[in-house]
This record gives sequence, structure tokens and C-alpha cells, in this order.
Amino acid sequence: MKVFVTGGAGYIGSVTTRRLLDAGHSVVVFDSLERGHRAAVDARARLVAGDLRNAAAIRDALAAARPDAVVHFAAFAYVGESMENPGLYFANNVGGGINLAEAMRLAGVKKLVFSSSCATYGHPERVPIDEKVPQRPINPYGESKLQCEGVFRWYERIYGLQPVFLRYFNACGADARFGEDHRPETHLIPLVLDVALGRRPQITIFGEDYATPDGTCIRDYIHVLDLAQAHVLALEKSVSGPFNLGNGDGYSVREVIAAAREVTRHAIPAVTAPRRPGDPDRLVAASAQAREVLGWKPEFPVLSDILQSAWAWKCQHPQGYGE
Ligand code: NAD
Ligand code: UFG
Repeated sequence: MKVFVTGGAGYIGSVTTRRLLDAGHSVVVFDSLERGHRAAVDARARLVAGDLRNAAAIRDALAAARPDAVVHFAAFAYVGESMENPGLYFANNVGGGINLAEAMRLAGVKKLVFSSSCATYGHPERVPIDEKVPQRPINPYGESKLQCEGVFRWYERIYGLQPVFLRYFNACGADARFGEDHRPETHLIPLVLDVALGRRPQITIFGEDYATPDGTCIRDYIHVLDLAQAHVLALEKSVSGPFNLGNGDGYSVREVIAAAREVTRHAIPAVTAPRRPGDPDRLVAASAQAREVLGWKPEFPVLSDILQSAWAWKCQHPQGYGE
């Protein structure tokens, strides 16, 4: 299959591109490099530098590539930034999604795998979260992802697009070559590991008054390689619709820090601070649908293994991609 990967210079996109290439597919990466890294694009893929907000750029790139399928990662993905600058998120994530949908229609490409998020559920009505839980985002980032799903659904009804919505929970870990290097970094695991590396003095725990056993937020941490594998399966199967991707295990912020202390053998000092706006207490996936329909089974469900892979990558790339 020839696969067109938007956002393939980013964290999850780089690992998925590699996995697709290893599975025998060919890949064209389309990325503005605004928040990605040239060095994160596997040398076997062709990189087209372009911005999805430029309708002509994505239309021309897709027409030239003539792919069998599109995997759409490209987006801005900071919840906090989306609260400060919602227009940026709607323009980039929703505007970019509309341009992509139009370009796919014009090029006659039907198959789409879209990076959605558990952030579309907001404060979930029930946990573990299955795909039928109502989507009620509590920040513009989550809303932008939900609106993209809506756009792609209408293109499905009107033009026969075949969209798959992979709603990731908390992506983490690394493969042997590609890892997590967001600028700025806001995610818990890379920040905790930066403390162990001596690049930050301490980790700040945002809130210890949540309705959880130790008072800190619970998340479902899913290895980026398992996410990548779900994309390969979604592309190779004739399916559409939403799939929640998580391990089904919840770990609190304190549990993640404790596990990182074990893996890194570093004290990792922690301080507490008030809640970060927009954080739900507990997000844990029910991913039976992905397991049954896609045949997906996470290979790396154990938190210490996930941390170990992220730690190995950090130790080899203390400056990330170093650009
Ligand atoms: P990332 O920031 O590392 O990668 C995103 C890539 O998209 C970057 O390389 C960036 O340059 C590119 N990009 C952004 N806007 C673009 C545009 N207009 N045109 C072209 N390229 C553009 O992000 P990530 O952590 O790899 O996340 C990938 C996707 O998965 C995003 O859509 C994100 O919303 C979604 N997601 C991530 C998580 C997570 O835990 N990281 C969880 C749920 C969903
Ligand atoms: N946290 C801290 N201290 C930090 C950073 C994070 O206590 O320095 C806490 C957060 O408050 C949260 C938990 O650690 O309770 C996890 O936070 P992350 O920022 O690592 O991840 P989020 O759960 O906020 O969000 C991530 C991605 C989103 C995605 C979401 C769900 O950033 O793109 O997972 O998929 F939508």
C-alpha cells in the first residue's frame, strides 16, 4: 500500500511511519516541520514539507502522491495552549482537516485513519470509556478533534470516505530510533525522565485533590508502538468508525513517578501545585472494539516496560532530536 502520512515528522507519526515501512508499505510524509523534526522522518520515506492550512499545498501533494490511504496525525495537541488560543486550534486542526478531506475527495482517495483523542470525551460519563460514551470535550483541543470526526463523517455519508477514528489515550514510550520530543514538553513521562536526567530539578504534580485513591489524576498510558500497530491494522482491514486505544489500566501521577524512580534509579524530587485547568480525574479506555474488530492486542502493556523504552531513548538522545 502507498500511504500518505500527515504529521509524520512528529512523535506518533514518526514511529508509525517506521512501522508501516517495516510492514512493506511505502510512505510519503507531509509535514510543515513546525512542531516536528526532519531527523524523525525515516530515510525510507519521502518527506514533502507543506502546511495543511494551505489548501493548494495539500491538494497538489496528494494529487502527486496518488496514495491508497491517508493517515492523518498533523495537528496541534496542547490542551493548555488550546485554552489560551482556541482560534489557532480550530484553524489548524479543523481547517487543516477540511483541506485534507477536500484534497482526498479530489484525488479519489477513500481510506483515512485519523488521530482522535480521549480528550473528545471530556469528563466521561463512565469509566472505563467505551466508544458509546458521549463525546463532550472540555477544551478547544478536544473540540477540534471532535469537529474533525464530524467533518470526516459527513464526507463518508456524501462522498463515500472510509474514515477510522483512533481515539488514543496517553501515548508514551519510544521505539529504538524514534521517541518523544515535543517543544515545549508538557507530558508527564518525558518531564519525569528529564528530572532523572538532571535536565530539570523536580517534577510538579498538578493537583492532589482529585477523586482518586491518592488524589492525583489517573490516565491510561499506551505504548507508541502499540498505537503504531493499530494504524497498520486499521489500514489493512476494511473497517470504519471509532476505536478507543488504551491498555485499560489506570495509573495515577504519583504511581507514574514511583515507577520512574524504579526504572531510572533516581530520586526524582516531586512538588505539588494546584490543578491544571481542564484535567479530568480519570481517563481509562475500554478497547474491546479495537481488540475484536481490528485484532489489536497491546504488546507492551506494562508501565515499567513503557518507561524503560522512553528512558533508553532519552539516555541516547538527551537533547531530543537536537535541532
Ligand atoms: P506532534 O506534535 O509530535 O506531531 C504533530 C506533527 O504534525 C508535527 O510534526 C507538526 O509539525 C505537524 N503539523 C501540525 N500542524 C500541521 C499542519 N498544519 N500542516 C502540516 N503539518 C502539521 O504530536 P503527537 O504527539 O505525535 O500527536 C500526533 C497526533 O495524535 C495529533 O493529532 C494529536 O492530537 C493526536 N493525539 C496525541 C496524543 C498524545 O498523547 N501525544 C493523544 C491523543 C491524540
Ligand atoms: N501532569 C503533572 N505534571 C506535569 C505534567 C502532567 O502532574 O508536569 C499530570 C497532568 O495533570 C495529568 C497527567 O499528568 O493528570 C498526564 O498529563 P499529560 O500532559 O502527560 O497528558 P494529558 O492526559 O493531559 O493529555 C495527553 C495529550 C493530549 C491527549 C490526551 C488524551 O497531551 O493530546 O493525552 O489523549 F488528548
